[in-house]
Amino acid sequence: MRGHLIVVEGCDRSGKTTQCERLVQSLQEHGKDAELVKFPDRTTQTGKMIDSYLKQTSHLDDHAIHLLFSANRWEAMDALKEKLSQGKTLIVDRYAFSGVAFSAAKGLDFEWCRGPDVGLLVPDVVMFLDLTMDEAEKRGGFGEERYEKRELQMQVRKEFDKLMDDTWKMVDASQTKDQVHTAMLTIVNELPAPGPVRSGLWK
Ligand code: TMP
Repeated sequence: MRGHLIVVEGCDRSGKTTQCERLVQSLQEHGKDAELVKFPDRTTQTGKMIDSYLKQTSHLDDHAIHLLFSANRWEAMDALKEKLSQGKTLIVDRYAFSGVAFSAAKGLDFEWCRGPDVGLLVPDVVMFLDLTMDEAEKRGGFGEERYEKRELQMQVRKEFDKLMDDTWKMVDASQTKDQVHTAMLTIVNELPAPGPVRSGLWK
């Protein structure tokens, strides 16, 4: 049986990365073949350009950086497909939904933003770690990277709303770390057995 493709999305400070790591560890401890995948993957050629853009050491046109984020996903697709076919469950920290939400929040056309990612692998579930901006700020404020600003993050949240459908599962990220972890693990454990790997996101 193939593995599940599980995407985790959320605004900055929602605890997403920590929870993704913990989820993978927990699944492995329960004997599941699970692996963490993170976008952007900053190790590849496109990833290095994205990294320098995010750290504000380079500037790129908004459209160009959007396409780079998408390319960074496309170049990983064959390998991810192969892993899923081998039975690996993939926990994916950010995906095309972040791609659209962040670029649309900057003012790019929402439909244009979806275009480059049309046809990517379709996740079996998207978990959204939900946290209000006030709660996010209580966690110590935002970092130094380009998008870590309150106004932009508020707009990102609105764009995420437009992308949600009934395959998404909301997780209240204001709970304790243990409660969030348990909620995520329950969602994963309740997923139905997956069918064949599906390409064709947003088709
Ligand atoms: P990270 O903090 O999860 O590494 O993500 C880096 C930043 O890049 C974060 O602010 C969200 C943003 N982003 C996009 O703008 N487009 C994308 O396609 C992805 C995956 C992330």
